Amino acid sequence: MAFGARTLWLLLSLGILDSTSHAGTVLPRDTVPKGFEAISYYPTPHGGWVPSWKDAYAKAQALVSQMSLAEKTNITGGAGIPCVGNTGSALRLGFPQLCLQDSALGVASTDNITAFPAGITTGATWDKDLIYARGVALGKQFRGKGANVFLGPTVGPLGRKPLGGRNWEGFGSDPVLQAIAGALTVKGVQEQGVIATIKHLVGNEQEMFRMYNVIQPGYSANIDDRTLHEIYLWPFAEAVRAGVGAVMSAYNAVNGSSCTQNSYLQNGILKDELGFQGFVMSDWFAHISGVDSALAGLDMSMPGDTMIPLFGNSYWKHELTRAVLNGSIPLDRLNDMATRIVATWYKLGQDKNYPRPNFSANTKSEDGLLYPGSASPPWGQVNWFVDVQEDHHLIARQVAQDGTTLLKNYDSLLPLPISARIKVFGTGAAVNPDGANACLNKACNKGTLGMGWGSGVADYPYFDDPISALRRRSSNIQFYDTDSYPNPPTNGTDAAIVFISSDAGENTFIVEGNHGDRDKSRQKTWHNGDDLVRRVAEKFENVIVVVHTVGPINLEPWIDMPSVKSVLFAHLPGQEAGEGLARIIYGEVSPSGHLPYSITHKETDLPDSIANLRGFAFGQVQDTYSEGLYIDYRWLNKKGIKPRYAFGHGLSYTTFDFSAATIKSVTPLTNFPPAREPKGPVPVYSDDLPDASEAYAPAGFKTIWRYLYSWLPEKEANEAHAIGVARRPGYAYPVGYNQNQTAGPESGGGEGGNPALWDTAYELTVTIRNAGGKHSGRAVAQAYVQFPAGIPYDTPIVQLRDFAKTKELALGGEETVTLKLTRKDLSVWDVNAQNWVVPRPEARFTIWIGEASDNLGVACYTDTGACEVGAKRPV
Ligand code: NOJ
Repeated sequence: MAFGARTLWLLLSLGILDSTSHAGTVLPRDTVPKGFEAISYYPTPHGGWVPSWKDAYAKAQALVSQMSLAEKTNITGGAGIPCVGNTGSALRLGFPQLCLQDSALGVASTDNITAFPAGITTGATWDKDLIYARGVALGKQFRGKGANVFLGPTVGPLGRKPLGGRNWEGFGSDPVLQAIAGALTVKGVQEQGVIATIKHLVGNEQEMFRMYNVIQPGYSANIDDRTLHEIYLWPFAEAVRAGVGAVMSAYNAVNGSSCTQNSYLQNGILKDELGFQGFVMSDWFAHISGVDSALAGLDMSMPGDTMIPLFGNSYWKHELTRAVLNGSIPLDRLNDMATRIVATWYKLGQDKNYPRPNFSANTKSEDGLLYPGSASPPWGQVNWFVDVQEDHHLIARQVAQDGTTLLKNYDSLLPLPISARIKVFGTGAAVNPDGANACLNKACNKGTLGMGWGSGVADYPYFDDPISALRRRSSNIQFYDTDSYPNPPTNGTDAAIVFISSDAGENTFIVEGNHGDRDKSRQKTWHNGDDLVRRVAEKFENVIVVVHTVGPINLEPWIDMPSVKSVLFAHLPGQEAGEGLARIIYGEVSPSGHLPYSITHKETDLPDSIANLRGFAFGQVQDTYSEGLYIDYRWLNKKGIKPRYAFGHGLSYTTFDFSAATIKSVTPLTNFPPAREPKGPVPVYSDDLPDASEAYAPAGFKTIWRYLYSWLPEKEANEAHAIGVARRPGYAYPVGYNQNQTAGPESGGGEGGNPALWDTAYELTVTIRNAGGKHSGRAVAQAYVQFPAGIPYDTPIVQLRDFAKTKELALGGEETVTLKLTRKDLSVWDVNAQNWVVPRPEARFTIWIGEASDNLGVACYTDTGACEVGAKRPV
């Protein structure tokens, strides 16, 4: 692996270069709370048994069976330049290095790309077509730059903790919103031939203490089986169902066992129950063992080095070669690892005319070191500045606009007439004066906040800031580019727009005292934003607050002030921060975003387990999901706590009537889904121990300093081989380890799980009419399930299951939208049966339809097939 100057920050900030460890944690596993201990699941199920992957696996088998041992191990780990991660190749057989590149919102560390709005803004659009279109555009741009693997979308963190640092990379604090948006992104990206990566499996819900080092293991997310299935795994299952090619294992542990070597998660849940056919990579430097991780189902080590990079050390590469030769890792497992990687490459059609990377994540110059990790020649061209933007700024702008969420609009202050005299306050209205890309990895909050910080960012090709977009429309604007109240002359009729923000990001950087998570600022706005709003609202009668934020903020310091009439959450708009917002402010379009999380009155409205971050502990930090299924609105509803604004809330300049709802049973339900199909055939290879010569380096081959290779010196290869022949690997295998492939669990059977789980159980329609007086607009219909009373499972009062957004409805215009609920939507995960169960299929499930989780005006009943408007609301 190689690192240039641009990537050194990552190592330093991860604390890697400070660490004295090179071999991972040496401490025994910590004790996790009773009932949460990780169980073993062996062996790794072979890939290839799902019919839609059959051809890709057949081709992969043909190629892998020609590979030498060292070629197989070479493609499973990092090998440097020019992307954030690169695999080794098997060029003799035409298999190239794969380029793996961030980020989930645009091609990172390069030029001529689009910096799309973040996931959280995308989720706030609640627009399936638009989410998909963003995925298509992302896919085209990654392909255009020659990146084989898109390191997104992010669906874990799910947003369990409002203060969590990377929630903004994902789509919102609900498994179904997150799942639908994640799967549509996967589909859009992969239709362009780019391998998508769903990440991070799983429980990566806070940034602090996430990584393993010699002093401390990464925290343990302690998640019970039902909560794992019904909440955190749900988006991953949907992505696997959409055919996602790659999964990234998280830094942290789950139930005491590090995700990258957690056999229950990778072998059991992901590869057997969810039938995942692609490959699993480690998060960067999350790989902490050689044999254990391989046996536990990891397929690719990223970026390939041990925790201390730059010294040519790896847990795999030559060590994986050795471990196979000496019999510690069965050849069968390595064959499966290599086959999964090659099959995914074929499945996405990358064997045909796929471009090679034409950019370098290490430098922006045209020429650079060809092997930057070695810090020595040769030099050559590394950047070709390929422009992949097409007209994707229009998609970015549409997302920024349609995600913008109007929380309050008292007196219909918005939209403003074009003649309005406006005073604009706050540095957040204008681009960072030092330049839009001035801060490395956006690790600062200066100027308009378009994205959070860390690896989940991209360079802005330009930045359309709000003040410029407002000024394009009106010359009646006075801008005070300060976060302190400037005491301007007031005129009662002037409108005042105040820009405030709240930032967060990855734990690799500390920004204004925040360690990735918002541990310092918490939900208070940054740069004294609350004071600014208060001061403005004391002097002006018509105040609009625009919030750029990674997640919920506390609105209480000013939300009830009579002059604070309108509040717009613009979330994180990316490069197109101006135009869509200005269009909304001046009424060229009605806002149509809806909140992808709830905003509570106070942090303690949520239980401690999710309201607070886990702090330092001796040993392993324990993050126990004691709230179970009850995050966000699920908790608030259970406790009867009214939020300030509920999940799903969002106003328009018009109002909508929901009427004429229908519900139709499509697939009759039984308690359990129909039995799964048996697994199909998988590639079969010879089990013979490879000859030691398959590990020898070619005679005269010159290695490059600090790069990773999969060959062994002849002597070492021979010694390892002798141990393998004698069947004396001497390795202390984990409890429960065995090599017998099984039929797989009853809950499995296809990608994502038993295919019958996606049978449509009920189809609903509802007619939505623009019933307002003046404006056209778009409505969102949200469908929530309420399980029958008296079932033997505790279930949240309502849970989102589907949504649909209308087209632009003119005054009086209407549209009938369709919503679908699958068998899985009406099931609970039964921990004893280890299957999805529809409790009492004949009983009354109520499907609530409305505009927010607390505004559900239409009820449809599965037992009678009737729907009514005006039923007593569930919350
Ligand atoms: C660490 C992050 O957690 C992950 O999301 C990212 O893709 C890798 N680094 C590579 O930058």
